[in-house]
Amino acid sequence: MARTFFITTAIDYTNSAPHLGHAYEKVLADVIARHHRRGHKETVFFMTGVDQHGQKVQQSAAKMGIAPEEFVAGVTDQFVTLWDKLDVHYDVWAATTDPLHKRCVQGILQRLYDEGKIYKDRQIGFYSVRQEQFLTDKDRNEAGEFGQEWGEVEKREEENYYFQLAREKQWLLDLIDKRSRAGTPFVVPDFRTAELRNAVEKLGGDLCVSRPKSRLSWGIELPFDAEYVNYVWFDALTNYISFAGYDPSKSFENQSAEFRARWPALHVIGKDILVPAHGIYWPIMLHALGFPDEQMPTLLVHGWWNISGAKMSKSLGNVVDPYELVRKYGAEALRYYLMRGIATGADADFSEERLVEFFNNRLANNIGNLLNRTLNMLHRFCGGVLPIGYAEARKRQPGVLPFLEPDNDGPGSELRYKRWMDRNDPANALEEIELAATSCNELIEHRKPWALAADETRREELEAILVLLAQAIRVIAVRLGPVLPEASAAMVSQISPDPKIADEAAFINEGGRALQPNQLVAKPKPLFPRIEG
Ligand code: MSP
Repeated sequence: MARTFFITTAIDYTNSAPHLGHAYEKVLADVIARHHRRGHKETVFFMTGVDQHGQKVQQSAAKMGIAPEEFVAGVTDQFVTLWDKLDVHYDVWAATTDPLHKRCVQGILQRLYDEGKIYKDRQIGFYSVRQEQFLTDKDRNEAGEFGQEWGEVEKREEENYYFQLAREKQWLLDLIDKRSRAGTPFVVPDFRTAELRNAVEKLGGDLCVSRPKSRLSWGIELPFDAEYVNYVWFDALTNYISFAGYDPSKSFENQSAEFRARWPALHVIGKDILVPAHGIYWPIMLHALGFPDEQMPTLLVHGWWNISGAKMSKSLGNVVDPYELVRKYGAEALRYYLMRGIATGADADFSEERLVEFFNNRLANNIGNLLNRTLNMLHRFCGGVLPIGYAEARKRQPGVLPFLEPDNDGPGSELRYKRWMDRNDPANALEEIELAATSCNELIEHRKPWALAADETRREELEAILVLLAQAIRVIAVRLGPVLPEASAAMVSQISPDPKIADEAAFINEGGRALQPNQLVAKPKPLFPRIEG
């Protein structure tokens, strides 16, 4: 049976419309999923969705004078439509108001309560009425006071349910270290491990997993106390197993074959939700449920898209609307920029000019130009048919495009491309593709096929150069697939319109990887028309 690659994204809050940061994360996960689907060697299970409960949603709905159900339905729709427009191809949609999810969360809560891992306690502390939450000393400002952002702060006493976190501190530290030593870090990129480790070192208290219904009703009711709903993060994190087929009434070993085949997941998340939710709460929740250490997930932590160095936020009014960008430039231009303009793990500044520049310089002028001129020359000089196959072309002109050789590890090679993709770093993988296209365009400039065509004695050389270029385009098209699914398919069908030859899995898997003689090529249709203005 093919191995299953299970990938998830953070599920997005439905208290406001999707912005560019959300779009980046979904496209990143989609690209990684598509990379793993390449060649059909793995079964991919890609899950994304929406986080619909909680205080913020209840407040937003109240402000609009509508029920939370109605409010989340509207915002959820915007996310679904956007992923569709952006060609984000997921297998399962995880929406936390789904009854399947509710049942799983309640089953987990009941089990942890029965085992004494969730307990009731009384909390006396400072409570911010405006933010509707208890405050801790960490929330005090430099003067030791609770600042104005908290509004009126009063002393309150409240009973709540707590999940045992603190006693697992050493277990978690050991897990993090063990995974690092084994070369399979819990958090990637690895440089975030120190940040997480420091946070775990400071772990003191347990996690309050309930909210009294008197102040929050929009959540999943605790199965053992109807006066409370579940804290939204506990509910939200559970989505990663509830929608993958986890059954809370069974031990890990007795889970269904379906769940066991999928788990453990790669969770794609932003740096802001590593600590404490995904880096601390989540592994301790899984550990409490009896997930063995070797079944802990991996966290792929990406950076932020900023605006002139500042965080995108509704209150600053600098939120970039992905719908607008798709409408103006198309989904693939946006996908390319989102993947090319940021190294996974790092932050980047968004700029519309750069989006246009990336499209024009890297796609239109480089890859698009290569496709157009090669197809044009094949029509002008060879009647739109490949005169020889790739094997023969390579024999006639050895080493002309080194990146095409299977064992080549130089610029533009498959080995480099694949290494970056396997490290979940599409920006660098795309750079390898650009380098491959650049070397093809340089070959054209240097060998001038139009001059060869004017000299009958150099016919063999001309044929070989054009077929090498066609093969290179075929390779480039397949590699572009995860980021630009539409353009990749269009490129493939222009260079090899025969559906049998166009089959990508066959091209990748059937060692040959070679275009055959007498194959027709299509008339070029510009794929990346320059964005003007
Ligand atoms: N609902 C929680 C996640 C629960 S997962 C069990 C949440 N939602 S969110 O809508 O605020 O953020 C969703 C994802 O988008 C997070 O991974 C977050 O890091 C990411 N981004 C939000 N703004 C971003 C940028 N400006 N840039 C890149 N990604 C950022 O957190």
